[in-house]
Amino acid sequence: MSFGPPAGSPFAGPSATQTSAAAGLPFAGMPSELAERATSILDGEPDHPEPDIPFSQSDYDREPFTLRRFLRPHRRGLAGAFGLVVVETLALQAGPLLTQIGLDRAIIPGDASMLVAVAVAYLVAVAVNTGASTARIAYTGRLGERLMYELRIRVFSHFQRQSLDFFTGQKVGVLLTRMTSDIDALAALFQDGLVNLAVQVLTLLVITVVLTLLNPTLALITLAVVVPAMTLLTAWFRSASELGYRRVRERIADVLADLSESLAGIRVITATNRRHHNVVHHANVVGEHRDANVYASTVGAIYGPSSETIGVAGQAALLFFGGRMVLAGTLTVGELFAFLLYLTAFFAPIQQLVQLYNSYQQGQAALTKLRGLLGTEPTVAEAADAIPLPPIEGRIVFDDVSFSYDGEVEVLSDFDLAIEPGETIAIVGPTGAGKSTAAKLLSRFYAPTSGTITIDGIDISTVTLHSLRSQLGVVPQEPFLFNGTVRDNVGFARAGVDDDDVRRACDEVGLTELIDRLPDGLDSPVHERGSSLSSGERQLLALARAFLARPRVLILDEATSNLDLASETLVERALDRVLEGRTAIIIAHRLATAMRADRIAVVDDGRLTEIGTHYADMYAMWDAAAR
Ligand SMILES: Nc1ncnc2c1ncn2[C@@H]1O[C@H](COP(=O)(O)OP(=O)(O)OP(=O)(O)O)[C@@H](O)[C@H]1O
Ligand SMILES: [Mg+2]
Repeated sequence: MSFGPPAGSPFAGPSATQTSAAAGLPFAGMPSELAERATSILDGEPDHPEPDIPFSQSDYDREPFTLRRFLRPHRRGLAGAFGLVVVETLALQAGPLLTQIGLDRAIIPGDASMLVAVAVAYLVAVAVNTGASTARIAYTGRLGERLMYELRIRVFSHFQRQSLDFFTGQKVGVLLTRMTSDIDALAALFQDGLVNLAVQVLTLLVITVVLTLLNPTLALITLAVVVPAMTLLTAWFRSASELGYRRVRERIADVLADLSESLAGIRVITATNRRHHNVVHHANVVGEHRDANVYASTVGAIYGPSSETIGVAGQAALLFFGGRMVLAGTLTVGELFAFLLYLTAFFAPIQQLVQLYNSYQQGQAALTKLRGLLGTEPTVAEAADAIPLPPIEGRIVFDDVSFSYDGEVEVLSDFDLAIEPGETIAIVGPTGAGKSTAAKLLSRFYAPTSGTITIDGIDISTVTLHSLRSQLGVVPQEPFLFNGTVRDNVGFARAGVDDDDVRRACDEVGLTELIDRLPDGLDSPVHERGSSLSSGERQLLALARAFLARPRVLILDEATSNLDLASETLVERALDRVLEGRTAIIIAHRLATAMRADRIAVVDDGRLTEIGTHYADMYAMWDAAAR
């Protein structure tokens, strides 16, 4: 498993490589002289411009991903590479033929000038072979890298386009395997597999033809000894290694899945004293991976020496039958020599082809998986004729909306709710009632099974996802912070924000004190998932992020649940300012949170059971429902 070049932080665009590397160095505990050298090397790096990557929510190719379609744009280059392969192979296989000429026409008759001519020809053949293979390898290497780059971006864009159910339905580790070992397997195929395959097949063909031309009888005898045995052995190897490699690939996915889950859940694992159990479990998973690999390499270990034995048997038969022909005067010494040399050269490609078969096998398996992956359409796709949602007032209507995650259990049933522009509405209800689900439907993370959701009278399923989401600000129940600085995290939702915007947003939610306390202010690092901050601080950062974007509609899903009352009050005052004339949906468990809303909607068991302005009654109702 190789994982390719390390990815930078999500914020480090390619032009930020230097700063992020410099910022990352102290963490690695690198000796200072090494760090200096690394910095000086990075300083010498050219500034990479932002690559121009087209990305659209709806515009992905719907044709199945096949090798041929993928390689089509590069067919000229590939044809060139194959041309070089032909030159390379012919030049290499001229060797034994020249040896035969040298023996029969120069050495045995004693012709010195002929010997010189043959030697020079040999040298030329070697030079041509070297030149052609250097050019070919350099070219296919570059082409392979380009193809990998294209494929990685394509798979990543595909991930970015998927609906949320895609990610809940699959383990992160398995998705990671698609991006790592599967793409690596394809890379191996592209980089030398395909062209090497051509080299070896061509070599086999050339040798068979030359042998037949030299002496058909002897060629027949030799091939009769070698080919049937080789065919049987290879057929066995094919099926055994196919099984082996499939197992290896599946086990790699298991290892990655277990690894990513253990790392993400380390707090819970530690707190529940499951570390030892976790190690045992991982040892099992890794053990199965080892067993799969051992099986695959045992199969290879049987195949290699067996095929060599067949080769040696072929040599012996050739020596015996060919030697008798030389004695009988029907074959020259030079020809026998050429036969022996060609037979040796015959086995190298067969061995190589078997190796290639493995990489072909892995490439093919990877291709199948990637085809499946690239073929999954987002379940909540943008309509082909989607229009941009014009700037909205914020009148939101859920009209008879029903929804189920799995097609069986209805999470929302006939849910009706009308929210006026500029209104702050609180949605309350017991755990599992469907509050977060309603918010997800509004952001079109999922689509209702029936019924419609409209904003200002426009059905949200008819508008572009970008135009919809850019007008909605969502602070989810579990906010996510990225590895980067405070500034990066707060400014995440809006491109090109300046420090003043970030500071203002932080100020509004009461984060200023925290930022002043941090050693580097806005530049202080936030660790992945915000693990270096308290839960309340994480929520404040997520709120600042949403405030900064100044959305037309703000959805706060339990966004203040971890704050103390003073902080919550501060946030709510800020909300009043930020939301002037804008619509807010506040999902809450806590009394105090719902109290400030204009109206309160009570959701129970996927239905709107009560809506009103009178807080105390509403709360009593909700409280009763929750019991
Ligand atoms: N991705 C999912 N797949 C399947 N079922 C889900 C999924 N997410 C939520 N559910 C189910 O849908 C129901 C409603 O969940 P939802 O998150 O909307 O509840 P909620 O009202 O926000 O609860 P809470 O107050 O605990 O946040 C729950 O029964 C939950 O088990
Ligand atoms: Mg919820």
